[in-house]
Amino acid sequence: EETEPLKIMISGAPASGKGTQCELITKNYKLVHIAAGDLLRSEIAAGTENGKLAKEFMDKGQLVPNKIVVMMVKERLMQPDSQRYGWLLDGYPRSLSQATALKEFGFEPDIFILLEVPEEILVERVVGRRMDPVTGKIYHLKYSPPETEEIAARLTQRFDDTVEKVKLRLQTHRQNVEAVLSLYKDITVKINGAAPKEEVFAQIDKLLSEFLEQKKSTLGTV
Ligand code: AP5
Repeated sequence: EETEPLKIMISGAPASGKGTQCELITKNYKLVHIAAGDLLRSEIAAGTENGKLAKEFMDKGQLVPNKIVVMMVKERLMQPDSQRYGWLLDGYPRSLSQATALKEFGFEPDIFILLEVPEEILVERVVGRRMDPVTGKIYHLKYSPPETEEIAARLTQRFDDTVEKVKLRLQTHRQNVEAVLSLYKDITVKINGAAPKEEVFAQIDKLLSEFLEQKKSTLGTV
């Protein structure tokens, strides 16, 4: 008999390292990475009506309205791959109403990971972040520089990665984080996200492998 697939939520302030950790997690665990911000950026890139509306809010560092985000995430969670392999939900829920909606649809995580990083570090991370449009990989000019000249030449910057916009994004985060945390406090694990990314991942890897071990042994005794 097979164990239920793992269901994880990962949260934290802008640039706390959610996307970076998700890359490392999916290399080691067969989970489907669902990032609300990435889904929204694909809508923008595709030029859809939802994308156009979403961009207005993202430009101001505000939450995109639920009528766009909630269904978008729900549909992705319902895909057969997420159901079969489990999911790693990144940047969702970001408000109490999003959390409640998810619960009503029957999506409950096993673990809620909160990456904790002091604010003065976040601004530096945002400003130095670059994306590879070919592989989708996240880089940082100082902390995670591109491997080759070829990659360096094609890196792009996100439209909301400016000092002014990250301040607005941080403000939005501060306004909502407590309400979301209150709903998941029994399964929340706080991780120090200020360490180098490999060290942050080592903490998460330990957490997930122990959780899976425990799940297996409980199953064995039934
Ligand atoms: P989203 O795309 O989710 O952005 P965010 O929450 O601001 O988070 P980021 O993607 O900026 O950071 P991250 O934590 O993934 O960090 P990363 O790994 O890249 O959302 C964007 C917008 O979309 C929102 O403002 C909102 O408008 C909208 N939106 C999204 N979800 C929504 C929702 N649920 N409801 C409504 N609206 C929503 O790392 C950052 C940088 O630091 C990188 O350069 C990386 O290389 C570097 N780095 C990472 N880890 C380390 C480390 N340990 N040490 C040194 N450097 C590191």
